[in-house]
Amino acid sequence: MILFNNNVFKIDTKNTSYIIRISKFNHLLTDYYGSKIATQDDYEFSKEKYDTPGGCAVWYSESDNNYSLDSFSMEVSSVGKGDYKEPSLIIDNGRDYILDLVYIDHQINDKVSKLNTLPTPHGLLEELVINLKDRYLDIHVSLHYLVDEENDVISRNVIITNKMENPIYLNKVMSMQLELVNQNFELTNLYGGWGFEGQKSKVTLDHGIYINDSKTGNSSNRHNPFFMLKAKDATYNSGNVYSFNLLYSGNHYEMVECSSFNKVRIQCGINPYCFKYELKQNEVFEAPFAILTYSNKGSNGASQNMHGFISSHILKEVHKNVSAPILINNWEATYMKFKESTLHAIIDNAKDLKLEMFVLDDGWFGRRTDDLRGLGDYDVNKKKLRRGLKGISEYTNKKKLKFGLWFEPEMISIDSALYEAHPDWALKNDFREPSMGRHQLVLDLSRKEVQDYIIENVNNILDNNNIEYVKWDMNRHMSDVSSTLYHAGELPHRYMIGLYRVFDEIISKHPNVYFEGCASGGNRFDLGILYYFDQIWTSDDTDAYERINIQSGYSLAYPLRCLSNHVSAAPSHSALRYTPIDTRFNVAFFGALGYELDLSTLEPFEKKSIKKQIQFYKKHRLLVRDGTFYQLKDIKEDGIAIWLVVSKDKKEAVLGYYNSLQKMNPSIDEIKVPGLDENLMYKFEVRHQEHNIHMFGGLINQILPIRVNERGALVNTICKYKTMPGETESYIVSGSALASGALKLNQQWMGTGFNDHVRALADFGSRLYYIKAIEQE
Ligand code: DGJ
Repeated sequence: MILFNNNVFKIDTKNTSYIIRISKFNHLLTDYYGSKIATQDDYEFSKEKYDTPGGCAVWYSESDNNYSLDSFSMEVSSVGKGDYKEPSLIIDNGRDYILDLVYIDHQINDKVSKLNTLPTPHGLLEELVINLKDRYLDIHVSLHYLVDEENDVISRNVIITNKMENPIYLNKVMSMQLELVNQNFELTNLYGGWGFEGQKSKVTLDHGIYINDSKTGNSSNRHNPFFMLKAKDATYNSGNVYSFNLLYSGNHYEMVECSSFNKVRIQCGINPYCFKYELKQNEVFEAPFAILTYSNKGSNGASQNMHGFISSHILKEVHKNVSAPILINNWEATYMKFKESTLHAIIDNAKDLKLEMFVLDDGWFGRRTDDLRGLGDYDVNKKKLRRGLKGISEYTNKKKLKFGLWFEPEMISIDSALYEAHPDWALKNDFREPSMGRHQLVLDLSRKEVQDYIIENVNNILDNNNIEYVKWDMNRHMSDVSSTLYHAGELPHRYMIGLYRVFDEIISKHPNVYFEGCASGGNRFDLGILYYFDQIWTSDDTDAYERINIQSGYSLAYPLRCLSNHVSAAPSHSALRYTPIDTRFNVAFFGALGYELDLSTLEPFEKKSIKKQIQFYKKHRLLVRDGTFYQLKDIKEDGIAIWLVVSKDKKEAVLGYYNSLQKMNPSIDEIKVPGLDENLMYKFEVRHQEHNIHMFGGLINQILPIRVNERGALVNTICKYKTMPGETESYIVSGSALASGALKLNQQWMGTGFNDHVRALADFGSRLYYIKAIEQE
């Protein structure tokens, strides 16, 4: 709800309040953002009080020397009037940078106006627009606040209009600014690189400026736009946590400044790095939406708010109640070396295992025999696919599987028909040799003819084949950012506007196709992509142990259903690590499940495990899609990870337990399960797993009547077909006992004996536990 009274705006959501004040000189000040407070007539109590001048302060007007913009918490800040903290707007007005934004009027709307160039969260009904103007110049800035009451989320952005005759230049435009008194905040952000995305970095704020940004042209695997501020005493499930994100896929910038009065100024928006955007008379600039939430229920509370908001207002409505098909992708099975028969073998096995879709990855088109060539072309490589896309998709459909296809439309190889026809379509300038990434160049999507070429070709393939899923890849950062059409200061942003137009045109024509975003894994894992695509390939690192950390990071910000996770071969191609087949599944379970290995070379025991995994996932996939997610232990900090997903009605849940390295004296595991109904009784039961006999090495001689070579042919053959049953474990337990941590799991393996109650985890071992209210059975 949005209220306005006595020059004070109050934005209420279910559990939070945000208070903005119009000051005596008509500046916009932030009074409060936190737990919900009662509405009253007078908000004198929440006002920042300054009744004597600050030393060294520059006061705004000689008429009041207690009024300094430097000491106030400002909703928007600029240059030249005594605020020396980081400005949220820097505008070159042709003469200087001075900007003094004052309140003009506002609107409270029950309909949200959509942006013309960038995505707008959908399905929101309440909007506050506060219009500001420079006190002297005709530069207009309006601040937009969209309210998601249910999920305690506010979306904010800034729209700038130049009504002066001369052009102005935008050098920095932050979509939002928030200023809070420091609560000994710990800043968590996600850093990484290729195959190493979503790593959590945690620092306790000290005085200075912290910047999390991307300059790669996309949101990047280096620094995701998401970040979180956690009060010192906050935990997983209690305490104050603020979290932020940006609805944008390009260069982004998040700044936290801990200033001299121990206040924390927070900003996010388009990266001001090499940014210079010209606005001519009457032109309008739309900044992307920043997304913010507050929770007093710890980091899980803040994450759940974001998850709820993304599921309801970012992800496409048409797939809200659709589950992603369980797929097999041929990339790690074949890479680009395949022919029809190789793919048929994978598809046949996928059918036996009851998978739901086959996705043909890179290498099916043009000259694409390796990554040196072919990008930009859309004709099928008939040497590999004799009967074309029709042939392979029909074969797949005949086996009762859906067919999905990989594209990388934003790229061009020099060795391609497209480059031969349009060398000028690549992002580069005409006198420098362009720098290559994965032997390819980026197409200049700021150009309409390039956008149209992609739209036409992708639509054409989707129109003429039964393709129910698209994996849209993007495998390099931008370089040589130069174009004949636009100044480089505008180009990366114009690329994004062009990209979103391409998405709009293709998706509106094919609304039912499921889309997966990908950029060498998570090099563009952001809300802008999720606005159009249903899920994102989380990382090219498919090693289960590494994935625990990657998925833990990304799921702080994004709902599980958006994380695309595959079970791959062991040793993994990324880390060369061997992890048990069930751990690979148990980790992938917390997301959109797929398989990415050569199904035609599986051992019988692996096939048996995979069949059971797929049955389990099919039974519980709605929990993953729609449930409430909790992280309870962290693999790096605690040596084990514990994840939990609980159904909305609290009647069922799945808990994942993941070991890192085996300890010799493991302590008893006490399991705390929040989020259930404390008045209900539950059955808590392990998903039964089988152990590979090789896990026990020479110890098998302790139970066999004859002595065998544990690495010999006999044991190897037995291992292909036979397994050792894992422990059974099941309890009837109350929701209150589960909430209080009274449940103790079976003893772990200690090297002294094994029976059907011992939890033999070993390095990288894991379990899933299914929890169900028993009255339902
Ligand atoms: C990078 C992706 O992350 C992989 O899954 C695969 O699609 C390759 N690109 C193909 O080039």
